[in-house]
Amino acid sequence: MPLEIRPLNGSFAREVPGLRLWEQLDNVTVDQLHDLWSHHPVLVFRRQALSEQELARFSALFGPLERVVRSEWASLVVPEVGLISNLKDSQGKRIGGLGDGELEWHSDQSYMMKPATGAVLYALELPPAGGMTSWIDLSAAYEGLPERLKRQIEGRSGVFDYVKRLAGYQGVDRVISDEAKRRTPPVLHPLVHTHPVTGKNALYLDSTTTVGITGLNIAAESSLLDEIYAYVTQPEFVYHHHWQVGDIVAWDNGVTMHRREPFDPAARRLMKRTTVFLSRDRHIVPEGCLAIEDALS
Ligand code: SIN
Repeated sequence: MPLEIRPLNGSFAREVPGLRLWEQLDNVTVDQLHDLWSHHPVLVFRRQALSEQELARFSALFGPLERVVRSEWASLVVPEVGLISNLKDSQGKRIGGLGDGELEWHSDQSYMMKPATGAVLYALELPPAGGMTSWIDLSAAYEGLPERLKRQIEGRSGVFDYVKRLAGYQGVDRVISDEAKRRTPPVLHPLVHTHPVTGKNALYLDSTTTVGITGLNIAAESSLLDEIYAYVTQPEFVYHHHWQVGDIVAWDNGVTMHRREPFDPAARRLMKRTTVFLSRDRHIVPEGCLAIEDALS
């Protein structure tokens, strides 16, 4: 049976109704989901009810799961599942990461040399207001980008550094372990990639980690990035997700950026997420190198 697929608010995101993701999906359905995700980078599944093991099993249909550098956000039960939450345990210790603040436009693992670009986020508790998450289609944005801007970024790479992202976090989220520091040196990724399935070019951007562009001085790079961010954040490229409990959103960080609105710190928000090494045959997966190596060569 072909999958039922619904466009969402005239955007690039797609809803896939009718699947029970806590059950073992048959091979035909899995193949259809693989194909769908290559063409539509944001997929929404509503009214789901999954254990952490089931969330990990569903996510692993798309590739090996990453244990992210923020090991302190990992579930105590399934370490491949991360908790994105402002909640605290009975000792007053935060149970997960990313608190209640705004998260600016970013691509989750841009600071990794080999980013795991798939993300699956599951909503369990939600604040009465705020906390909406939005995504930009960086493939459509590239297509519409003025030729002048395309020429300026052609053949160039961005320098992505996790230290910049940390500065935008709240409280303890700003502090990382020595092991996490060791795993996150500044890296380079090309700013434009070609999708292996659709053949379309897409921008690879992250406003929270980009600290430079190869071959450009700081003034030129920052005015170029300002122009690009202003262009790609136009409403026609953006999907806003108004969360309901039980929603699962899967997205491809190779061709999107996302942001989250802040919400009332006194409200409760609990999300669980996995991070997936998507396959290069089906998705854009930027290959990186150390920024320092590039400077030396
Ligand atoms: C994230 O950026 O991965 C978290 C998004 C959210 O909390 O909605």
